[in-house]
Amino acid sequence: MFETDKDVLDWYERQPRALSKEYVSRIRWKDIKNYPMNEAFVPVLYYMRDIEYFTDMYYTELMRTPTGRDPVIKKFMDRWSVEELHHANLLNRFLEEAGYPTGKNWRSDAMKNIPKSYLVGSYVADYTSRAFGKNFHAAHMVWGTINEVTAVQAYRKLGELAGHPVLKQLTMGIVQEESIHASFYWNIARLKLAEKKFARDLARFIIARFWTPVGQGAKREHETNYVLMTLFKGANGLKDFHRTVTGRIERLPGFDGFNGLTERIASGLQV
Ligand SMILES: [Fe+2]
Ligand SMILES: [Fe+2]
Repeated sequence: MFETDKDVLDWYERQPRALSKEYVSRIRWKDIKNYPMNEAFVPVLYYMRDIEYFTDMYYTELMRTPTGRDPVIKKFMDRWSVEELHHANLLNRFLEEAGYPTGKNWRSDAMKNIPKSYLVGSYVADYTSRAFGKNFHAAHMVWGTINEVTAVQAYRKLGELAGHPVLKQLTMGIVQEESIHASFYWNIARLKLAEKKFARDLARFIIARFWTPVGQGAKREHETNYVLMTLFKGANGLKDFHRTVTGRIERLPGFDGFNGLTERIASGLQV
């Protein structure tokens, strides 16, 4: 167990990248076309690619808030945002090699498709978080934890369900990096929540009231639900989500018995 934010950061900085140059060069890119691609997973790949890419926007947004000025969080985010962008580029490369052309302008096209409501919403969220200053850090960190833990599970499911060996190779590397991100956020969240009851109450309120699955807002709700349906469908999918994501969040101070995430996923899955 880490005792300070700085310990968590030092740990993070000691972790080598899973998607090192060597790992990426060992991915059998040229073999991608030799395996059939289950079409159902193609929209999932596009979604994940865009969300990874939007990290850049999220990073800029967060830098405008008191959380972004926290030196430990800032240092983490500098490396984290590079890794997420790398994930976007690797997913794009996979799509290209699999025969799904993505176009030179996929980044700006993805940005253009972000609903205006998201941009307005994030502006409002900025101002709200500023009003709470440092007390808001914990909420940001819990939010980040949920997104990273969800990403771990989503990539794991994608690798398993799509049945494409090269995609599996790629997602295994991504899963490792997402797990490291999840641990960073989880540990910082734990420390920040433990500091003050007000931070715990605020974080729980914010998550219960505003949390939506990663990407929703920047993407449309039906797109998010498609991804959820494809990756977490059936009673087992929901059970897995509950065990892994909700289970991890429930272990944070102030979040015991918190079931809001499972409820949101269940509504997307219509189960
Ligand atoms: Fe990522
Ligand atoms: Fe991540």
